[in-house]
Amino acid sequence: MAPMMDDVAKVLLDEATIQAKVRELAARIAEDYAGKELTLVCILKGAVLFAADLLRALPLPVEIDFMAISSYGRGVRTSGVVRILKDLDHSIEGKHVLVVEDIVDSGLTLSYLLETLSSRQPASMKVCVLLDKPERRVVDLTPDYVGFEIPDEFVIGYGLDYAEKYRNLPFIGVLKPEIYAATGE
Ligand code: PRP
Repeated sequence: MAPMMDDVAKVLLDEATIQAKVRELAARIAEDYAGKELTLVCILKGAVLFAADLLRALPLPVEIDFMAISSYGRGVRTSGVVRILKDLDHSIEGKHVLVVEDIVDSGLTLSYLLETLSSRQPASMKVCVLLDKPERRVVDLTPDYVGFEIPDEFVIGYGLDYAEKYRNLPFIGVLKPEIYAATGE
């Protein structure tokens, strides 16, 4: 982990803080969905670690399905272009759906996704995000469950990448600006 640590300006949320929040969110979700069957929709790739930990912490009958959406390409900025790269394997008609995301930033990805998924007639649909950058929002979107509100800094780790790196860090850190400044993005 040492070479990756050299690229981290600071640790924003350490592993214990993240894991405690996951347990807290799981407890709230378990209470809200008591007696129901839940389908987690994990948005690849960033949400993989969060969804896996959340899934493990939920004492409910839970199914999981995956969707891949592209909005950022390989760079830092939101392009506004949202494409479905991989759709769900199963129908969500009549299901209680909880969309799991690592981060909501502009909100473009999630608002597109929610519009698409709600047209498939789920019984209910809510959103759970680990990280929220409210000051970056360009569309009106409020997630139902939020782990942490964070400032507008370039964060990596616990699923979040820069150019596909750093996803395996167990904490969330701020990337040193010189790392992404070098590519001009
Ligand atoms: C990130 C994140 C969200 C989106 C949020 O995904 O996982 O899907 O950006 O940004 P927005 O609110 O501005 O739309 P990214 O495109 O980096 O893909 P990844 O999860 O595969 O890393």
